[in-house]
Amino acid sequence: MAPPAPEPPLHVMLVCFPGQGHINPFLRLANLLASHGLRVTFTINLSTGRKMKSLPSSQCRSQELKLEPNTSSSHSGAVHFDFFDDGHDEESIKRVPLDQLMTLLEQTGRRALPEMVRKYAEQGSPVSCFVSNPFLPWVSDVAATLDIPCAVLWIQSCASFTTYYHFHNKLAEFPTPEDQERDVVLPGMPRLKHDEIPSFLHPTTPYGFLATAILGQFAHLDNVFCVLMETFERLEEEIIGHVSKFCEVRPVGPLWLGAKASVGPGDLMEADDDCIGWLDRQEPTSVVYVSMGSIVGISAQQRAEMAYGLMGSGLPFLWVVRPSHDEGEDANLGMPEGLGERGKVVRWAPQEAVLGHVAVSCFVTHCGWNSTLEAIGSGKPVVAFPQWGDQVTDAKFLEEVFRVGVRIGRGDTWTKLVTREEVERCLREVTVGPRAAEMRENATRWKREAEAAVEEGGSSERNVREFVEEVKKKSV
Ligand code: UDX
Repeated sequence: MAPPAPEPPLHVMLVCFPGQGHINPFLRLANLLASHGLRVTFTINLSTGRKMKSLPSSQCRSQELKLEPNTSSSHSGAVHFDFFDDGHDEESIKRVPLDQLMTLLEQTGRRALPEMVRKYAEQGSPVSCFVSNPFLPWVSDVAATLDIPCAVLWIQSCASFTTYYHFHNKLAEFPTPEDQERDVVLPGMPRLKHDEIPSFLHPTTPYGFLATAILGQFAHLDNVFCVLMETFERLEEEIIGHVSKFCEVRPVGPLWLGAKASVGPGDLMEADDDCIGWLDRQEPTSVVYVSMGSIVGISAQQRAEMAYGLMGSGLPFLWVVRPSHDEGEDANLGMPEGLGERGKVVRWAPQEAVLGHVAVSCFVTHCGWNSTLEAIGSGKPVVAFPQWGDQVTDAKFLEEVFRVGVRIGRGDTWTKLVTREEVERCLREVTVGPRAAEMRENATRWKREAEAAVEEGGSSERNVREFVEEVKKKSV
């Protein structure tokens, strides 16, 4: 008699928002879950899928493709990609305003996900669990309708999570139009000044619709059985302890350190080929790396101050320069003359590898949470230059709580110019100033803590294993 057919592996479906700051942690989680033997489907809108550099464009057009992860574990599952059609191509999707994009994703995703679920069930690989994105709170509704358990991957800090939670549930006092400078006091957290709460929550923010999208997740929190969090226990111990009282939270980060197997970085832009070669030619611990993530583009005037500040510091630098929203993706950025003598300017860099390079001494960052965790896990001190959203809260923590850097700007800096003198002063403070050695030591200590969290038996590694066990239990 033929032996019984083996059980299909557990099948987890990750639904990702189309932004680099979301794709990176979602792809990393996908790899991690696959290395635990799960079948993982990474789902995103088709026009974004076509732009992901790790996916050969010819394959993206076939709507579904399968990539085997680079992993040595013979028990590994696989990461598959599946796309839902948003009716756009790679170019036209860029012109859809963010608030309309949210609606478009919800309309097309709500239709597509049940069809995908049906297709996988027919193929003998039913979906056991969804992992949704904080910007796509409707995914947990769809999951509930289909009677499939749903978790969420929170891609920002636990500090930001608890701030949004308290705001949504009206559990603390926040700045109001009448009292715009009120401090915010939350359990387990240092006191936040009005310009240190995620700026979308401030009454003066022009990005209120983003707060609405993020807060949507908190209105749907009862629909998710667990919040996977891109942080680690030692980094935000007290806050995680507090959040655990009202929410099933599992810190699983830094995912970029834990996800050793990789199907590719999922970059939406082509990285400059020569960044690492250029760094190889620099002295150890000498280079300033400057990057403001994937969305922020600073104004031409601010760019000039940054350029002269970098040149004035006398330090070599690698600078990822992105055009501002007004200038458009292909704008000529007209950088000051002589900039290339000490520095290299690129449109996109392989950031993980850059931060891991011995030549890099410090990181001027906009403090997106991915960049923050990549700095922490690489042991690099920072000059924190937040722009908006959670970045302003992350900057406070980098300076005052993790004590690995200095803040060059506070709060919403779109309108506040940081001068070349300030740029120079902060670079000196982090590289040679009286506290530079202490910041370097703290950064090294956090790197060790981050590595310990993802090692076998570490807190994040354990949380991933327990999550997998939980999914197993829920699927019987
Ligand atoms: C967004 C939000 O702006 C941020 O506030 C939030 O915390 C996460 O989502 P983004 O602004 O793109 O993210 O910044 P960040 O979180 O730092 O993510 C950017 C990612 O792009 C990082 O993983 C970084 O390594 C990568 N990157 C950036 C590159 O690989 N190369 C680059 O040149 C620049």
